[in-house]
Amino acid sequence: MNTRRLGLQDRVIGEIDRIIKTLTLKPRASRGMPRSPQDALPEAERAESVRLMRVNHAGEVAAQALYQGQALTARDPKVKSAMHEAAAEEIDHLAWCEQRLQELKGRPSVLNPLWYVGSLTLGALAGALGDRASLGFIAETEKQVESHLRDHLERLSPKDLRSRAILTQMSHDEMKHGAKAASMGGKALPFPITWAMRATSRLMTHGSYWI
Ligand SMILES: [Fe+2]
Ligand SMILES: [Fe+2]
Repeated sequence: MNTRRLGLQDRVIGEIDRIIKTLTLKPRASRGMPRSPQDALPEAERAESVRLMRVNHAGEVAAQALYQGQALTARDPKVKSAMHEAAAEEIDHLAWCEQRLQELKGRPSVLNPLWYVGSLTLGALAGALGDRASLGFIAETEKQVESHLRDHLERLSPKDLRSRAILTQMSHDEMKHGAKAASMGGKALPFPITWAMRATSRLMTHGSYWI
């Protein structure tokens, strides 16, 4: 077997390994979870926090897949490594959401593998459009995620201080990620694409809220 074929096989195995790890292993955050003292929540509020944090957890699973897909088809090695770095930073968010879901006695969405495959495909397509479009895709995604997080902060119980602390930190981080992608040369995306991105994220939000 020639070296090129072996190299390709290694890459495919590496990418599949990354998918399995994200979906099955407990993610390890590099930063501690944002902390806040927390009293027990009334049942209805706990149940709503579970549903909202399940949506945020699904969003972070999708973020891993998007970055993996974009790195796969990125042309410039600098952009490729920026995608891997961003995915590593997003691991904190994934770990915090998972930890909070456990504290709330909730469980992740059963639809996560579906979101992963869909987002991986979307990310690879965005990467194939060229690096500037791909960076623009990140800037737009982060803008939409940030507005979604603001909406969740309004919907979460004011008593759920721990979930609120996590979403507040995530919102700061997403803003930074978006600004970085724009400063690296991300170009604004045409309206049909931003509309399709919003529609996809609505589908994901509703699905993960319930199951
Ligand atoms: Fe995130
Ligand atoms: Fe982000």
